[in-house]
Amino acid sequence: MGCGAAEWACPVNGCRRHRESGAERERRARTEAGGGMVGWEKGLRIRFEPGRCWLEEEDVDTPNRRVLITGATGLLGRSVYKEFKGNNWNAVGCGYSRARPMFEQVNLLDTTAVHNVIQDFQPHVIIHCAAERRPDVVDSQPDAASQLNVAASGNIAKEAAQVGAFLIYISTDYVFDGTNPPYKENDAPNPLNLYGKTKLEGEKAVLANNEGAAVLRIPILYGEVERLEESAVTVMFDKVQFNNKSANMDHWQQRFPTYVKDVASVCRQLAEKKMLVRYS
Ligand SMILES: NC(=O)c1ccc[n+]([C@@H]2O[C@H](COP(=O)([O-])OP(=O)(O)OC[C@H]3O[C@@H](n4cnc5c(N)ncnc54)[C@H](OP(=O)(O)O)[C@@H]3O)[C@@H](O)[C@H]2O)c1
Repeated sequence: MGCGAAEWACPVNGCRRHRESGAERERRARTEAGGGMVGWEKGLRIRFEPGRCWLEEEDVDTPNRRVLITGATGLLGRSVYKEFKGNNWNAVGCGYSRARPMFEQVNLLDTTAVHNVIQDFQPHVIIHCAAERRPDVVDSQPDAASQLNVAASGNIAKEAAQVGAFLIYISTDYVFDGTNPPYKENDAPNPLNLYGKTKLEGEKAVLANNEGAAVLRIPILYGEVERLEESAVTVMFDKVQFNNKSANMDHWQQRFPTYVKDVASVCRQLAEKKMLVRYS
């Protein structure tokens, strides 16, 4: 018999509450406190019998390769999330101001929240897309940008190492000064703006805390946007769509716009290769 707890927590055949491990108890307490239980692979079934009705938990058939994506509400993260989800991965996306209702809301500056989400979900792979990537915002709020791009990245790397997750840190070609392209992996970085400097510091913080992590330095991105200013490619259209306005554009930079779906596919292929090496 149950112990008088709510029916869902205490099914007929015994009191689940009294069979839980410490970690399960901690997770349930967090859920009951409204904190959510990341990637919990249980479904609820309504059962009827003459005279009573109750909810029963049952296992749900979800893919067993787990990936956690930070910045899943952003231009790249949305595509990375879809790519993994569409290829039979159990994917959990984290966002911040735009997280609800689809994603976990996790402030990456909150080390306890980051610890909890990673410990709860136990991902095999983490794709760290979240960053402050707007150079003008980094210049105007350097401390906040450094907290997110450097300190939070180092902390995610440490947490990833603790659960043995393979981490991909998304970096940028802004770590180079552009004087001698094309660049190879071992070319010396020399960022010219503060954004590039914080991303390079982020790379170092990641590798110092997790030597098995991968750093992916990608160029300017384009893809499906929620707002034109989300991509440096489409933001131009915002400036020139009305012919009564003028806009300044430079005509000397050579850049290589890259489709977010291609980057997402590379992340998944890297993750799957790593899984093969590690678990076969
Ligand atoms: N965009 C480019 O052209 C480009 C080029 C090269 C490299 N990159 C790199 O690619 C990655 C993705 O860029 P993106 O363009 O997709 O960025 P984005 O669209 O600006 O998205 C930024 C993401 O970071 C999240 N975020 C911001 N502050 C957070 C916080 N305190 N806690 C948790 N999450 C937070 C945002 O969540 P909410 O929106 O929910 O608040 C959003 O999901 C970045 O690492 C960037 O440096 C981008």
